[in-house]
Amino acid sequence: MAASGSKDAPEQEIAKLREDIRRHEHLYYVLDQPEISDAEFDERMQRLQKLEEAHPDLVTPDSPTKRVGGTPRAGFSKEAHSSAMLSLDNAFGEDELRDFDRRARGLIDADTIAYVGELKLDGLSLAVRFEDRSMVLALTRGDGETGEIVTENAQTIRSLPLVINEKALRKLDLPSTFEVRGEVVMPIDAFQRLNATQLRTDGKTFANPRNAAAGSLRMLDASVTASRRLEFFAYSLLVDGATPLPRHWQVLEALAALGFKVNPHRGLLHGIDEAVEFCDKQLAKRESLPYEIDGVVLKVDSLELQRRLGYTSKAPRWAVAFKLRAQQAETVVDDIDVQVGRTGAITPRAILRPVSVGGVTVSRATLHNEDEVERLGLEIGDHVVIERSGDVIPKVIRVVKQASDRRPFQMPKNCPVCKTELVREEGEAIRRCPNVNCPARLEESI
Ligand code: IVH
Repeated sequence: MAASGSKDAPEQEIAKLREDIRRHEHLYYVLDQPEISDAEFDERMQRLQKLEEAHPDLVTPDSPTKRVGGTPRAGFSKEAHSSAMLSLDNAFGEDELRDFDRRARGLIDADTIAYVGELKLDGLSLAVRFEDRSMVLALTRGDGETGEIVTENAQTIRSLPLVINEKALRKLDLPSTFEVRGEVVMPIDAFQRLNATQLRTDGKTFANPRNAAAGSLRMLDASVTASRRLEFFAYSLLVDGATPLPRHWQVLEALAALGFKVNPHRGLLHGIDEAVEFCDKQLAKRESLPYEIDGVVLKVDSLELQRRLGYTSKAPRWAVAFKLRAQQAETVVDDIDVQVGRTGAITPRAILRPVSVGGVTVSRATLHNEDEVERLGLEIGDHVVIERSGDVIPKVIRVVKQASDRRPFQMPKNCPVCKTELVREEGEAIRRCPNVNCPARLEESI
């Protein structure tokens, strides 16, 4: 049913439109099951925007029009977290995972523990407060105690509800004031598209999707955040600083029922054997996921047991992050050359003394851009640590030993292929070949 019956008073039409748009946003962005076309959706949003412009007194902070961002601000203010945002202890490999389980069982004197397994999404954590069902505050993790206020930016993330359905709350017997924590990520395809656009428009490129997500969320101009594709996956719910349900599994289900996106790759695992199996299975398919993960998280399902296990100064004793040790190796940078991309962007590349990393011989590693070479303090001849994870292009992590005969890398002044003079715009990280007929550019674009 169309919700824009124009015989309604503006107040009613606005209310109907908002409800309608919220339902379609949830169908599209959270459930991936749209019922109307993008054009129909845009039409309703535009109608709402027009009505709100004509009736500024009827604008509310939870209106779907907040999705497009507002006027830029001067900086971010800070605010204290309702409770500290802690980190997770790591377990590298199965043995360390079993050690974690043994320790936990010892502490609570249990034979087996039920865990919830989740992906460890590689983004940035965000705490989002709702008052009277509406989003009122979004805070980055910051130092864990105090975060930056990024409410307007978070409001542009389409999978994050601005207002919570009253019936859903009632059904779960939850109050209308609470906090949800989760991870903001940028999908890999959105990250690649963003970097391509950045190159074309002389903007700065991002080293990985996590940096892109963090940079995009912390934009002073929230309309830029709105133009970037970010997702919010919820993983925790707090009412007055405590989890309001007896089991973490129920928390995840409640979050989904409240309209949040909850990662579907989750499992309720009875005992450490099932947990180990879950971790292996999830890590094995990480390359096929649409976003990056840096491990799998196991959390004790029972909140009562979580409470009994408690916390160390920086991490809960009831959760652990299972990770694969990144495959690293040490070698020498014999030279640095440059590559010409499709857009003419010139990227430096380390020519390595060939070295085996996890059974694969590596002889090249990306250096991203000139600034990255500087950040690493890298010169030709230096000993470096390189890292390879999955199919990703190997990268230089750090310099471990400077060579006595090291020589600085000089970005060429001319294109190594067509010899055209390179251009670097003021404040730009990237130098590029401006020749649209450059053979290297043409070859890359095929
Ligand atoms: S739970 C007290 N669950 O990992 C534990 N964290 O090292 C709270 N993260 O800062 C975190 N995916 O940004 C949890 N499914 C997940 C996660 C997750 C990613 C991040 C989060 C946190 C960091 C902890």
